[in-house]
Amino acid sequence: MKISVIGAGNVGANTAYTLALKGVANEIILIDIFKDVATAKAMDIYQAACVFNADIRLKGGDDYELIKDSDIVIITAGSPRKEGESREDLLLKNAKVVKNASQNVAKFAPNSIIIVITNPLDVMVLVALKFSGFSKNRILGMAGELDSARLKYEISTLKGLNASTFDAKVIGTHNDEMIISSSNLSINLTQSEFETIKNETKNGGAKIVKLLKTSAFYAPAAGAVKMCEAIKNGSDEILSGSVVLDENLASGRLIRLNRAGLAEILKPKLSQNEQDELKNSELKISENFKFLRENLQ
Ligand code: APR
Repeated sequence: MKISVIGAGNVGANTAYTLALKGVANEIILIDIFKDVATAKAMDIYQAACVFNADIRLKGGDDYELIKDSDIVIITAGSPRKEGESREDLLLKNAKVVKNASQNVAKFAPNSIIIVITNPLDVMVLVALKFSGFSKNRILGMAGELDSARLKYEISTLKGLNASTFDAKVIGTHNDEMIISSSNLSINLTQSEFETIKNETKNGGAKIVKLLKTSAFYAPAAGAVKMCEAIKNGSDEILSGSVVLDENLASGRLIRLNRAGLAEILKPKLSQNEQDELKNSELKISENFKFLRENLQ
């Protein structure tokens, strides 16, 4: 399998590194506007793979020709959040980058599946849809696996539990209005534990930005790699991921993936209140996309 990663910064390089060490792909490409950075990081990761005698080829550069015949292209290019910035602050700036990347993916890897990581995530999924011209099943966004991992982290640390012993999934938009429902949890929590865990999870990204002065990258990279594994293996595993629900709305749902991309969207099992919350939070995605349609040349 050939996987290309656009953006060789924190998220992109760690995605390539994790893909290489887990052996998900045997060919990996790193693209960045900074050619030397992409070249050097690809070299370094290739050498790391050689430490483990992994059968893998990596190349980096700024030429999109390199991504030719990719099965999957992961878009991470764009700016991360700084302290005090919301993901929406990145809207127009990152939309230009994702537009350019998507057009190049359509040109050089027309049969690939795109996984977007650039924020604000759900809107960027729509930008990739519009400018790649790909069908809906070949455009995915990585956020749900990250938010779900943050939820698992909070439960694991609060309750002292091994994260492999329970399941927890987050759906909805990749912002503070994400939906954390007890119907997507396999363990029972008291109301007060549930509220604490919910708040901490919603604040999970911001906590890292505050300490690190930039946004997280190991867990986002892991989330994308997990989606690549599911695409490759076409297993029955249920993941959380951002998907195109109509041409003006993308948001997180429980999904199944296979070699064709999106195989199935599961209907959310939510209370009436949660359904209303989900619907309201998703209005903002469509509004932001409307703004982009009017302002993105
Ligand atoms: N084409 C290719 N690469 C680009 C472009 C472009 N048009 N514009 C920027 N880049 C590259 C930068 O040169 C940089 O190497 O994207 C990379 C971004 O890396 P970082 O600044 O380290 O940001 P990172 O932490 O990786 O976050 C990237 O993922 O999680 C999201 O919110 C995050 O939107 C952000 C994205």
